[in-house]
Amino acid sequence: MAKPDCPLCGGTGWKTVERVPEEEKMTRVSWEKPVEGTNAKKRYWAVPCDCTGKDRSARTLDRARIPNRYEHCDFNNFDTDIYDTGADCAAWNRSLEQSKLVAEAFARDYPLGTDTGLLLMGPCGAGKTHLAVAALRQIVLRGHTGLFYDYRELLKEIQGSYNPESQTSELGVLEPVLTADVLLLDDLGAGKPSPWALETVGHILNTRYNERRITLLTTNYLDTDGPTAMPTARSPRLPSGQAVSAAREDSLTDRLGMRIRSRLYEMCRTIELFAPDYRREVRQAGRMRS
Ligand SMILES: Nc1ncnc2c1ncn2[C@@H]1O[C@H](COP(=O)(O)OP(=O)(O)OP(=O)(O)O)[C@@H](O)[C@H]1O
Ligand SMILES: [Mg+2]
Ligand SMILES: [Zn+2]
Repeated sequence: MAKPDCPLCGGTGWKTVERVPEEEKMTRVSWEKPVEGTNAKKRYWAVPCDCTGKDRSARTLDRARIPNRYEHCDFNNFDTDIYDTGADCAAWNRSLEQSKLVAEAFARDYPLGTDTGLLLMGPCGAGKTHLAVAALRQIVLRGHTGLFYDYRELLKEIQGSYNPESQTSELGVLEPVLTADVLLLDDLGAGKPSPWALETVGHILNTRYNERRITLLTTNYLDTDGPTAMPTARSPRLPSGQAVSAAREDSLTDRLGMRIRSRLYEMCRTIELFAPDYRREVRQAGRMRS
């Protein structure tokens, strides 16, 4: 809705501009006005006023259901030059920088140039959700539909909606999850789903994959083999010399089963984010740059 007292549009929601992008010309109203003191004419276009644009983007962001806790997450406040002590600090900074570059390029190019999503793997607090939310926000602000779901929350809703007598409420939960242009499933592998809930997760991922919809996932379960396995020798350490407790006892395959894990290889590009827990290392040490 336009602001009634907007100085740009006077509350109509439309303002006039001299230039619009080529691809919008067909869909916009335009007219010519004489340029004062000459015989020339200039074309003007009607475009939605900023006061409505802000509302609209706020509304699409609301629909994406990004939790308040992650509302601040953006690429330009994701620090990549944080650590300056400890043997692994250069590697941590590099990992942050690389991960940010990949996520940022993905968000910038979406929907062109890619039919795979992102799987961000790494230890607790490394910044996986931050980067995934930053990508989701950017895509949503360009007008695509996006949806944030905590994995455990989704399982709970699926389990809660399961009613053998009627499928409707289950469909109510699943519909937006299946159809959002971009789904962010946060903290994959957390919680212990029942076999059929896990099957539903498989169904969600499969359907989205088949319909060429993009899924972004974060997890701190790693692979015990394959490209994302973390050899002990490479275990990241905190500046204090303490090892980062990245490797959970279970692997991602243990948590999700072989079929889903192998589907994820096809659906997503993996980003390994190996850095210490930002909450503990940076926030508590007061080392955050302003
Ligand atoms: N490189 C960074 N620059 C700025 N803020 C960061 C960075 N890394 C993490 N943060 C902030 O630290 C907090 C924890 O990060 P985040 O939630 O993204 O971690 P995570 O890897 O998803 O952790 P978990 O595995 O526990 O879910 C967030 O508030 C996030 O904004
Ligand atoms: Mg997270
Ligand atoms: Zn206005």
